[in-house]
Amino acid sequence: MKKLIFSLFLCVSASAVNAQVYFGEKKEIADSVFLSLAPTPPMGWNSWNKFGCDVSEQLIREMADAMVANGMKDAGYEYVVIDDCWQVGRDDEGYIIVDPVRFPNGMKNLADYVHSKGLKLGVYSCAGSETCQGRPGSRGYQFQDARTYAQWGVDYLKYDWCSNEGQNAEAAYKTMSDALKQCGRPIVFSICEWGENEPWKWAQGIGHLWRVTPDIRDCYECVFDWGGVGVLEIIDKMADLYPYAGPGHWNDAEMLEVGNGGMSHDEYVTHFSMWSMLAAPLMTGNDLRDMTQETLDILTNKEVIAVNQDKLGKQAIRFMDMGDHEIWAKPLADGEIAICFLNRADTPWKLNYEWTRQTMYFAHDINLRKHIYDVRDLWQHKNLGTTESNLVSEIPPHGVLMVRLSPKKK
Ligand code: GLA
Repeated sequence: MKKLIFSLFLCVSASAVNAQVYFGEKKEIADSVFLSLAPTPPMGWNSWNKFGCDVSEQLIREMADAMVANGMKDAGYEYVVIDDCWQVGRDDEGYIIVDPVRFPNGMKNLADYVHSKGLKLGVYSCAGSETCQGRPGSRGYQFQDARTYAQWGVDYLKYDWCSNEGQNAEAAYKTMSDALKQCGRPIVFSICEWGENEPWKWAQGIGHLWRVTPDIRDCYECVFDWGGVGVLEIIDKMADLYPYAGPGHWNDAEMLEVGNGGMSHDEYVTHFSMWSMLAAPLMTGNDLRDMTQETLDILTNKEVIAVNQDKLGKQAIRFMDMGDHEIWAKPLADGEIAICFLNRADTPWKLNYEWTRQTMYFAHDINLRKHIYDVRDLWQHKNLGTTESNLVSEIPPHGVLMVRLSPKKK
């Protein structure tokens, strides 16, 4: 009898140890998979800026179709994200209920469809009890929701901060992060607490991207009473945050407004160029089924996207600030550098820039005297000579000149 009890004890304690090791390893694997999910800034489309609450299965399918048909998928766009308003309640067991009228075939079916196009599906929820549109939030249901998303085949979660009821932001986002790490499916975690609690200081390892401002508005320079901001305000907020960005963890400059009609062509070029310089996620926010060639050309400029997606993962610094005229620099892999001349003024910038006058800038270890560089204009798609001669150009009001410098081959 004694022998039996002893072997039973051995058996139970051995399996407890095994279980611990198993779960321990599993957790480590889950953590390292999670951390590797966004080696470059995520690219995709989100429903909010253009469609607000008017989301449906039909809309999402059409956006996925358009993303493939118009070349955006080839250019690198991957995530199709349903923002607020897809959820209508919880059932008796606490499971989130998808709007049965707008999504008659449910989320799993929609995820399968998006995946069949070679794309990934994102959804939205909130760390508070309610989303910003008063739909059920995830507070108190984080682990259950994460498992549900995994069962559906969700690949990306944007997680908002309305109705947060005074929670500690870091703790609230960590809870959902833990839930995602344990849900059995790799899911990119997009933190959306509007920069209120300086997430760049604590969110690395918790999420892959974090918003740094209130909501973007479709304007070049504007601030609204309720907090909405335009392109320039966001750029200025991003300027000091470059030390916090890198592979797997990005400052989120907000979703794009390119193509939504509130800005001029030059302003949209500036918006897209600067988001690329800032290594910001490129989440388009227009109607992909119906856009001008001009808009599509901005969104699919592969030379500009290559700067955004550069594997070094550095965020640009404001290299020179001369009031309305600024020069930004983003170090790229293999010793290349992207430079963006930003004209904030209402008048053209008659540029005559002597490259070799540029001294070393220590923050990003940029030294334009180190090599002679070939200079390539990323919007004109043409070579502009080398850094041995001055760069002469006229930059339109609110416009940019964005170039790539490559060490000249001897
Ligand atoms: C907040 C977010 C927006 C959007 C809306 C949806 O305002 O910041 O990006 O998700 O909620 O209600």
